[in-house]
Amino acid sequence: MIPEKWEPVFGKDHAQTKRTGTGMTNHDWLISRLPKCELHIHIEGSLEPELMFALARRNGIRLPYESVEALRRAYQFTRLQDFLDIYYQGMSVLITEQDFHDLAFAYLTRAQADNVHHVEMFFDPQGHTARGVSFTTVVDGLTAAIEKARAELGISASLIMCFLRHLDEADAERTLDSALAHRAKIMGVGLDSSELGHPPAKFTRVFARARDAGFSLFAHAGEEGPPGYVWEAIDVLGVDRVDHGHRSLEDDTLVARLARDRMALTVCPLSNLRLRVVDDLTHHPLRRMMQRDLLVTVNSDDPAYFGGYVNDNFRAVRQSLGLERDEIIALARNSFVASMMPEPDKQEAIAAFDRAIASLHRS
Ligand code: ADE
Ligand code: ZN
Repeated sequence: MIPEKWEPVFGKDHAQTKRTGTGMTNHDWLISRLPKCELHIHIEGSLEPELMFALARRNGIRLPYESVEALRRAYQFTRLQDFLDIYYQGMSVLITEQDFHDLAFAYLTRAQADNVHHVEMFFDPQGHTARGVSFTTVVDGLTAAIEKARAELGISASLIMCFLRHLDEADAERTLDSALAHRAKIMGVGLDSSELGHPPAKFTRVFARARDAGFSLFAHAGEEGPPGYVWEAIDVLGVDRVDHGHRSLEDDTLVARLARDRMALTVCPLSNLRLRVVDDLTHHPLRRMMQRDLLVTVNSDDPAYFGGYVNDNFRAVRQSLGLERDEIIALARNSFVASMMPEPDKQEAIAAFDRAIASLHRS
């Protein structure tokens, strides 16, 4: 179902040329107004320090930081593992169904402000069940927030349950068993956490089972890991979409294959900067990926830790790479094309997007 607020997306103020009168450049104004989907967001990575402290207080948990500012100061990462250590520690404040609800509803409210119409949201059940929080508590809290957001905010969302790749396949198998009891609430399964040394093929059997159960399939690959991990994600796991995947550019045959299959890649620029995948956003591969005909989208990954939500990511690459208006529009449109919305809804959403852009061009 497409949210009712779908049209119109552009107001009367879209004709400005250089500056919008709001202090925004015209391109930034366009970014703020473009409808979009977010397809790569770890809901636990949207846990802002303020909410983390509030939940810690509510649950009688002592955090090893004396203030929100001290916690933010600790967000200095030189690689993925530095971040993951803090990320798993941060999620320890999530205990009750209400906590998971509050986390997801806060994110969905923030996403709607960025004109996000549809979200495909990762969650890490093993990060919670290992601490004694039940799978049902996690899924029911997130689902309650999604239902409330659909009713009150007009934003749609679905859940992707990720397996933690630093754990073994047997642990992932048990997690899949738990998910089967909640089949209707979960759209897909994914693969995240420490990439190097944990290739996708480690999870061949559990992904085959997930496919048989009707889940859509996703995997982080080619974030820190080599192009060979992207090959495994598509050929061994049979994923429907690759998360990150920018290291595919190191392998021309792989690029040709991804382009031929219109395999979507969910790119997360501010994450790449903060995890030192790129030393500077002016060197970010996003535009090169577009030039190689890859179906790329822009996403926030873990916005509370990486300094920006989806529109911040758009603005950062727009500025650093000098993206043109048509490139920005193409990235937002790709997010609908790459989504896993039911096919009729997706076609309706893309048609509405195209109508909105056409009206923008006419004025
Ligand atoms: N879990 C949360 N964010 C992640 C990322 N960027 N890569 C791998 N696992 C993650
Ligand atoms: Zn991610």
